[in-house]
Amino acid sequence: MATLDPIAEFREDHRKVRDGILDLTDALGRRDIARAKEILMELNNLVGPHFRYEEESLYPALRTFLGEYVDQLLNEHNNVIETAKACLNLLSKESLTEQEAEDARKAAMSLLVHVSNCDGLAILSERFSQSDLEELGRKYEEARKQGVPLLEWADTIRGK
Ligand SMILES: [Fe+2]
Repeated sequence: MATLDPIAEFREDHRKVRDGILDLTDALGRRDIARAKEILMELNNLVGPHFRYEEESLYPALRTFLGEYVDQLLNEHNNVIETAKACLNLLSKESLTEQEAEDARKAAMSLLVHVSNCDGLAILSERFSQSDLEELGRKYEEARKQGVPLLEWADTIRGK
């Protein structure tokens, strides 16, 4: 296949996000705010193209199998974006109270639910035709090439 494999890349992204979230919660647990912010920014860069590909290409295609459940996935994205914004706001402060650090840690940990739900979509994606998969691979590649970070995408392209 000339284009990237959309299912393999999709799952590989989820592994990276899973590990990033766990590293983030670990850093917050250690109250290492600088490291936590660094990880959050890495996740912001990684997840931007991933969400964009999902919302512009994958989720619409999955309506064939999932119908209205796709709306729930979009809602989960809204929650992820709100949580990421709230975490970034907190981590932009000079210092955090114990309560703030613990709230941020729990909020970050809660993001694992969406990673897990989203990865389950791979089992359905396997039933797309070869030409649909190639088209999805092209869209994925394009979203990565554009490389718009999550929070920037959410405030600009996504909102339009
Ligand atoms: Fe995903």
